[in-house]
Amino acid sequence: MATPPLLSVRRLRVLYARRGLLPGFMSGGRPADIRAIDDLHFDLQAGETLGIVGESGCGKSTLARTLVGLQEATSGSIRYNGTELIGLSRKDWRPLRRDVQLVFQDPLASLSPKMKIVDIVAEPLKALRPEFDAAARRSRALALLERVGLGPELADRKPRELSGGQGQRVGIARALIVEPKLLICDEPVSALDVSIQAQIINLLTELARERNLAMIFIAHDLAVVRQLSDRVLVMYLGKVMEQGRADNVYARPRHPYTRALLEAAPVIEADGSKPKKRRLLGGDTPNPAQPPMGCVFHPRCPLAEHACVQSVPLLRRVDGEQYAACHFVAAGG
Ligand SMILES: Nc1ncnc2c1ncn2[C@@H]1O[C@H](COP(=O)(O)OP(=O)(O)O)[C@@H](O)[C@H]1O
Ligand SMILES: [Mg+2]
Repeated sequence: MATPPLLSVRRLRVLYARRGLLPGFMSGGRPADIRAIDDLHFDLQAGETLGIVGESGCGKSTLARTLVGLQEATSGSIRYNGTELIGLSRKDWRPLRRDVQLVFQDPLASLSPKMKIVDIVAEPLKALRPEFDAAARRSRALALLERVGLGPELADRKPRELSGGQGQRVGIARALIVEPKLLICDEPVSALDVSIQAQIINLLTELARERNLAMIFIAHDLAVVRQLSDRVLVMYLGKVMEQGRADNVYARPRHPYTRALLEAAPVIEADGSKPKKRRLLGGDTPNPAQPPMGCVFHPRCPLAEHACVQSVPLLRRVDGEQYAACHFVAAGG
């Protein structure tokens, strides 16, 4: 028997009301909605890492914010450890805040520039572990700073004195101080240099393993999530295009969008020169306020035919644990 998933997302939809550029009469009486997340499904097991990849604007941050209760879902279900999160009151969210934590792309940006690093890391304990006094909070924060590779000499510094990589280590420590079971990382390395990216990814891989953390790691580039993901999910316009075990998806991508993303990934040249983009995905970046009919990827898809305009392909099992939403991907084929 398979163990029930830690997190189970079904038919999740998150719509934003478009802030009135068009007068109502031009869009049938009400502003068109932005379909940021549209009918999304996935599961996550305890201790597992899921990489979520897609181009800018496909709904990744909306998903991250919805999973931690910062953004309201329009419909669907998010079950965490048996509890339905959609529609949960603030009060009922409280005990879960410790369990589910978010790491941002720029974790220090939203914090006071006057705060000391050690206080930034310790702060979540005030609300979520009120049993700790100031001394206990500080000693826990110092220990965790050490674990993420920041020595005590940095503890009393201010955010502006840190590099990007150090800032991200602080963000990770701040998320982990309450000992979550699920860590959601929204493009935590996208703003960092490639060598620093690798250090942060290694650190997250180690921390996830030693704490049996389940992790959702979001990136816009498949190459970034490869090393740390047990499974990968490829998103396009708020929908799942493909998901499966990472090894299988990279070895044998089944959806034309996954293939295009892999072909567009930077390749390290044999002579060690700077990575170049091999081939960029053609066509316009999609607009979630006006999603295409049928398969949302069809306007950019090399395989698109009449059927792709006519009907939305369902996410179907193509192989073992690999799923793809494409009319032209046959099971086992
Ligand atoms: N608060 C909001 N109000 C209206 N539209 C939004 C809001 N947040 C995001 N969007 C729109 O929703 C879509 C998905 O955005 P986002 O989740 O940030 O994507 P990603 O993180 O993949 O770049 C985009 O078209 C974005 O412009
Ligand atoms: Mg984003």
